[in-house]
Amino acid sequence: MSDTPRLTRRPEWTALEDHRAGPLLHPDLRGFFDRDPGRAERYTVRVGDLLVDYSKHLITDETLALLQELAAATDVFGLRDAMFRGERINVTEGRAVLHTALRAPRDAVIEVDGENVVPKVHAVLDRMSDFAGRVRSGQWTGHTGQRIKNVVNIGIGGSDLGPAMAYEALRPYTARELTFRFVSNVDGADLHEAVRDLDPAETLFIVASKTFTTIETITNATSARSWLLTAMDGDDKAVARHFVALSTNAGKVTEFGIDPDNMFEFWDWVGGRYSYDSAIGLSLMIAIGPERFREMLAGFRLVDEHFRNAPAEANAPLLMGLLGIWYDDFFDAQTHAVLPYSHYLSKFTAYLQQLDMESNGKSVDRDGHPVEWQTGPVVWGTPGTNGQHAYYQLIHQGTKLIPADFIGFARPVDELSEELGGQHDLLMANFFAQTQALAFGKTGEEVRAEGVPEEQVPHRTFKGNHPTTTILATELTPSVLGQLIALYEHKVFVQGAVWNIDSFDQWGVELGKVLAKRVEPALTEGAEVPGLDPSTAALVAAYRTLRKK
Ligand code: F6P
Repeated sequence: MSDTPRLTRRPEWTALEDHRAGPLLHPDLRGFFDRDPGRAERYTVRVGDLLVDYSKHLITDETLALLQELAAATDVFGLRDAMFRGERINVTEGRAVLHTALRAPRDAVIEVDGENVVPKVHAVLDRMSDFAGRVRSGQWTGHTGQRIKNVVNIGIGGSDLGPAMAYEALRPYTARELTFRFVSNVDGADLHEAVRDLDPAETLFIVASKTFTTIETITNATSARSWLLTAMDGDDKAVARHFVALSTNAGKVTEFGIDPDNMFEFWDWVGGRYSYDSAIGLSLMIAIGPERFREMLAGFRLVDEHFRNAPAEANAPLLMGLLGIWYDDFFDAQTHAVLPYSHYLSKFTAYLQQLDMESNGKSVDRDGHPVEWQTGPVVWGTPGTNGQHAYYQLIHQGTKLIPADFIGFARPVDELSEELGGQHDLLMANFFAQTQALAFGKTGEEVRAEGVPEEQVPHRTFKGNHPTTTILATELTPSVLGQLIALYEHKVFVQGAVWNIDSFDQWGVELGKVLAKRVEPALTEGAEVPGLDPSTAALVAAYRTLRKK
């Protein structure tokens, strides 16, 4: 058992509690800005192509200093360095955490158990580049010699969300003549809808699974193989031209019937939710091409270097992590909204949900003791401006404090025509207006001055003081996407480090998996399930009755 003091008993923690109960009891953003004209500039950091403005937060210089003291006391940078060195900081699984090695330059040396892993990373990247090039050029054909026109990624969680999100984000960079689909759900409807209009002779399946044991993925991959073989008169040899695997588990890949030559490897030191820049990104690489994929890796690397080297007070992931802790633990905020003002980022928040919630949704610390503090928030959000006409009302005038990140871009993507590109200023006008309204609201006097009848004044008043971070990037390029993802990866890391939880395991998803396996025979064969609770037993019985048409 560690003898470090429990987090909430640390003087740095209680100092923050006192600060919140004292000077920050009624934070007032209008007042903060009135008293400090340089606030916007001082509370902005630049990282690569990202500008991160955190001036609209319920903080003062003292708050920041106290949060930095907490980070120092919990040795966030010590754990960061251990991660980059390849130490086994995933304590419950005894693994190194080295997604940063996936974007390390060729000449870097990063050792796990005395072995430099960087050459392995680049060897796989080179194989992926060669394969992606062959699919894109038409050199890699299907079993009947037809050109591959469709790529279907089958995976779930980290083996789906990353490539699916990035494919959407980088659509303007994709080979538009190819069709990409992403199948994850074990609901047969997902696979059905993905392949119903595709020609098997022109379709490549990429089976993405770190473990190659995940029931959803193996079930979908098995059904996809049957779909292919039906069209190929049962000729097993077709599998070699239409199936490739992305995995750490060569044995299971072979057992499934995929030629190990068609397997792209990664390693147990890459967590599922940190894996889309590994072999798991093969579908994305086919879509955007190897060069663009490498640009994306360079974007990740840029923020890795920033996180590693920038001083604490200008370290963007550190600041974002600490601000999240400020609301989570000292304002009882339960959720955190991520609101990208880009249609191409429609899957960005869903991706972040796994990254953040699977990482920091923990209630015991690294020593196995229950935590007495709040850990990861509920992460949610959809692209602006759609959310403005749905749930922003609650953020503006509801009773809950919802810190939010607003992500916007200075330029629309090149591909938009002149007229459509012109809509970008309107999009961004909304982007700026929302954070302004959230921060500064509208007082009763301002409402009255507009001649609003007195009885309506309370309804039209906005109290403001809703905290937001504005992330303004140049343009949604592969590099910028890499920068954004690395920013959030390291933010999540910072929070896990302060909360002293293992951000790299995910035991919480196991129980449901085990119970599903136990219940399935009751549904299919009517088998008795020993120990089924009365509620679930009654539901299973009702299901069986209703299932019969
Ligand atoms: O949800 C649990 C989980 O293990 C995730 O962490 C992972 O991304 C997902 O399942 C898929 O796992 P695999 O890549 O092994 O199929």
